[in-house]
Amino acid sequence: MAMSVLRLGFMRGIAGRGPQPGLDIKGRTLVDLFEHQAKELFAEYGIPVPRGIVAHTAEEARAAAEQLTGRVVVKAQVKTGGRGKAGGVKVADDAADAYQKATQILGMDIKGHTVHKVLIEEASQIAEEYYFSFLLDRANRTFLAICSAAGGMDIEEVAHTAPEKVAKIPVSPITGVHRDKAREIAVAGGLPPQSIEGAAELIEKLWAVFVDEDASLVEVNPMILSADGQVKALDGKVTLDENASFRQPEHSAYVDKAAEDPLEAKAKEKHLNYVKLDGTVGIIGNGAGLVMSTLDVVAYAGEAYPGQPKPANFLDIGGGASAEVMANGLEIILSDPSVKSVFVNVFGGITACDAVANGIVSAFQLLESRGEAVTHPLVVRLDGNNAALGRQILADAALPRVELVDTMDDAAKRAAELAAVGA
Ligand SMILES: Nc1ncnc2c1ncn2[C@@H]1O[C@H](COP(=O)(O)OP(=O)(O)OP(=O)(O)O)[C@@H](O)[C@H]1O
Ligand SMILES: [Mg+2]
Repeated sequence: MAMSVLRLGFMRGIAGRGPQPGLDIKGRTLVDLFEHQAKELFAEYGIPVPRGIVAHTAEEARAAAEQLTGRVVVKAQVKTGGRGKAGGVKVADDAADAYQKATQILGMDIKGHTVHKVLIEEASQIAEEYYFSFLLDRANRTFLAICSAAGGMDIEEVAHTAPEKVAKIPVSPITGVHRDKAREIAVAGGLPPQSIEGAAELIEKLWAVFVDEDASLVEVNPMILSADGQVKALDGKVTLDENASFRQPEHSAYVDKAAEDPLEAKAKEKHLNYVKLDGTVGIIGNGAGLVMSTLDVVAYAGEAYPGQPKPANFLDIGGGASAEVMANGLEIILSDPSVKSVFVNVFGGITACDAVANGIVSAFQLLESRGEAVTHPLVVRLDGNNAALGRQILADAALPRVELVDTMDDAAKRAAELAAVGA
């Protein structure tokens, strides 16, 4: 689950992203924009982008190409990188050709993302392709600009084999990026003299996008020098930080409800800190750190059993584990069809174990009254403040399918074993 050091674009390379699309494990919700949305945003900031029209069908693609006239590029709109290499970016000579190319690209699967729309864009005459991004550099607690004259679809390869060609320039949040700093970045990236001024102007405006929109990533690959000497953004990736939504009301339009995991969406409505994973052992714990280590312990324990069961989710019910929060958490986990067993791992602190135990008992009653009686095995480990009392409460309640196990390791083994037998 550890964040890779630096990754390129969505889910790859140099610029930073968590492993879980949409949400990183600390519950920071991220919103990725489609390329066309990123470019619309860029245009609002005065950044030169090619003219383009979004199309959902081949007919719309043809009409768009007619409107743009001349050669166009048909571009798959998916929130993942490497579209070009996957055949999702194609040049079309005219409107009829755009229709053909759109037919090929619409419905295509690119790394698990189905293409539902394409961007029809005027074809640019490209002289050179550069790479540029702003991102948050967590490790160094600063912002970072990444710039390279060797941009385009092979930038990951370049970053790997010739890292000296990819400049990483720290950016202070206090001084930010003005024209001089922007020039310094372009020069460090090795851009040729005729591109520096144009690139610097673009970089300065991208910084405005990054700051004013509360983005955690703004990436342009390629940033091009066109045959007529203009520097333009030919691609755009923007990740917004939803923690800033209170001051960015218009960003709610970007949240892609259709692409959201339905369980995550439901959990979000109930203000639960939940991330869907792909295993079969449901996990509930109090405190993000405890839940993280529970995931590790369960994954490790699972290796000893047939099918090697893994965690089905991350769910932190936080400090005050009320019956309602416990019931909501159990409800979400049990409505995941892949879940075979549930591991409730609680370390009593300010909220003592007896309160959590009472929460579990009430949660069972609440779920039963909602017609969703618990039928899966539940392994419960209570430790910490008032653990003995908590265990006694659960023992007295004699809930069906609830097993108390004293240690975290043993409880993880038991939960994995129950998942393995498909109990
Ligand atoms: N409007 C355009 N005119 C001419 N060529 C284009 C245009 N848009 C893209 N291209 C060419 O297609 C290549 C790939 O396009 P783009 O960067 O948008 O997709 P990608 O890099 O494959 O996608 P991703 O960045 O998501 O991996 C560009 O490097 C560029 O050479
Ligand atoms: Mg690109």
